[in-house]
Amino acid sequence: MASMTGGQQMGRGSEFMPQLEASPTIDFQTETYKDAYSRINAIVIEGEQEAHDNYLTLAELLADKKAELVGLSKMENRHMKGFQACGRNLKVTPDMAFAKQFFSELHKNFQTAAAQGQIVTCLLIQSLIIECFAIAAYNIYIPVADDFARKITEGVVKEEYSHLNFGEVWLQAHFEESKAELEAANRQNLPIIWKLLNAVADDARVLGMEKDALIEDFMIAYGEALGNIGFNNRDIMRMSAQGLAA
Ligand SMILES: [Fe+2]
Ligand SMILES: [Fe+2]
Repeated sequence: MASMTGGQQMGRGSEFMPQLEASPTIDFQTETYKDAYSRINAIVIEGEQEAHDNYLTLAELLADKKAELVGLSKMENRHMKGFQACGRNLKVTPDMAFAKQFFSELHKNFQTAAAQGQIVTCLLIQSLIIECFAIAAYNIYIPVADDFARKITEGVVKEEYSHLNFGEVWLQAHFEESKAELEAANRQNLPIIWKLLNAVADDARVLGMEKDALIEDFMIAYGEALGNIGFNNRDIMRMSAQGLAA
């Protein structure tokens, strides 16, 4: 296998979505928009904070990848600051209590796995599920974002692909011994993503983001990731649909 130094790039065809002009019909200053933004912006900020903390935890669990993982956590911290600036730019106060509650189940599952040294589960939650969720949300947001937020989000989403890639490369190299744990972690955590998507669907729609598009983008990114790690098409279909009907 090719050397892993410097971050091997997995094959990926749909990295960059076509860039559309911001919809002229969105008024970013209405109370309705700002109210929905206070929750979506908080979720994004909290998601980046979670990602920062999770990569620092992974840096302790994967001693030989420590420097790289600390580097990823620093990127997540920059992302968080960027999205805080997006909220300030629209004069919106993010509802951080809502966002903490939103992430609480994934947060708990990551903490439990980390305490038990379950690196595979931790990587599935952070580097696959959370990164794919972020990639889907950011790609769908970019065409409907205000100019300030669009520039920030375009920079962020490129880096999220490299974080997804970190998880793919590690899990591919340890595929056979990780397979059973990946399936179990998927079964435990993917249904949470569908719940979270439902919980934000109304607010996302106010921002011009449709739930079906979010699901589709998530499925594409997650399915590609599972394929890159070594799962076959049948596994991917079964695993991606886990909990979807719930
Ligand atoms: Fe990030
Ligand atoms: Fe990330």
